[in-house]
Amino acid sequence: MQKADIQSLEEAFQERIDKEIKIEPRDWMPEAYRKNLIRQISQHAHSEVVGMLPEKNWLTRAPTLKRKMALLAKIQDEGGHGLYLYSAAETLGISREEMVQQLLTEKAKYASIFNYPALNWADMGVIGWLVDGAAIVNQVALQRTSYGPYSRAMIRICKEESFHQRQGYDICLQLARGSKAQQDMLQDAIDRWWWPVLMMFGPHDSESAHSADSMKWKIKRVSNDNLRQKFVDQTVPQANFLGMNIPDPELKWNEERGHYDFGEIDWEEFWQVVKGKGPCNKERLAVRNQAHKNGSWVRDAAVAYANKYN
Ligand code: 3HC
Repeated sequence: MQKADIQSLEEAFQERIDKEIKIEPRDWMPEAYRKNLIRQISQHAHSEVVGMLPEKNWLTRAPTLKRKMALLAKIQDEGGHGLYLYSAAETLGISREEMVQQLLTEKAKYASIFNYPALNWADMGVIGWLVDGAAIVNQVALQRTSYGPYSRAMIRICKEESFHQRQGYDICLQLARGSKAQQDMLQDAIDRWWWPVLMMFGPHDSESAHSADSMKWKIKRVSNDNLRQKFVDQTVPQANFLGMNIPDPELKWNEERGHYDFGEIDWEEFWQVVKGKGPCNKERLAVRNQAHKNGSWVRDAAVAYANKYN
């Protein structure tokens, strides 16, 4: 195709983006837009599926049947979120098998947060409250992403995330109103999860490899740092209500800015975990690989059935 033709296609594409017209699978799109979306959506899907692992370990140890049912429902939701997102990514021309293999062979990333250990029941509350709380901040903005299938998946997912966050906060509230030992358990969990949760929003905007393109193409609607700030601003009052401390001596309300000032993330730790050297990276991928192996008979049966009856 002539250079001039490509240029006019790119201009028409950007005009659609600027006019907030959703890009659909059959629309022309720059190859770089398609690749960026496959990268982000597939890694988002991997995060949902790997995110089930820390919580599944606590299903059999839930303190009551009610807590067990709520946690089970949440974990099932996360699996469904992964399927919506894999399906959205497939509309861009990559197969489910290829994406799954990229995860299993460590060619693809998933959210760093899931490489930290869930040590006790308070972690279940803090994961729901803080991890899903951060995911909601990120995903509510993503409802307005320019790619149609991703945007529609986000709208559906956000409805379920709110329940995830509420059930987590309810666990935290019960512990905060419990014995000293329960309050100490909750504070310890907040101390362990707070900073890794801030890392969920990615590197600073100035360090982000993809933000410039992702903002231009409205894949990303709010920047990493602005989403992180929004999360801190809304979460600190929730911690105060629980009577719990945020483990950041620099956290302070800045009247002039109308936001909380907070300390610097340990980016060395962030990149170590992203590069596979976190506390649970090896364990999470070993479990995910084993699950894939254990489930091969189900996939074979489904393919055999589809070939025979379709
Ligand atoms: N964990 C792992 N990798 C991360 C990361 C994190 N917290 N933050 C950034 N990275 C990676 C990026 O993937 C990118 O690497 P790549 O080029 O190999 O893909 C690199 O670091 C540079 O980061 P950028 O900021 O330039 O990358 P993005 O523009 O993609 O921004 C993001 C990162 C904000 C995570 C963005 O990808 C995004 O919004 N993704 C969709 C949301 C998502 O994936 N959330 C993960 C959690 S899902 C979840 O919590 C489920 C809930 O139900 C519990």
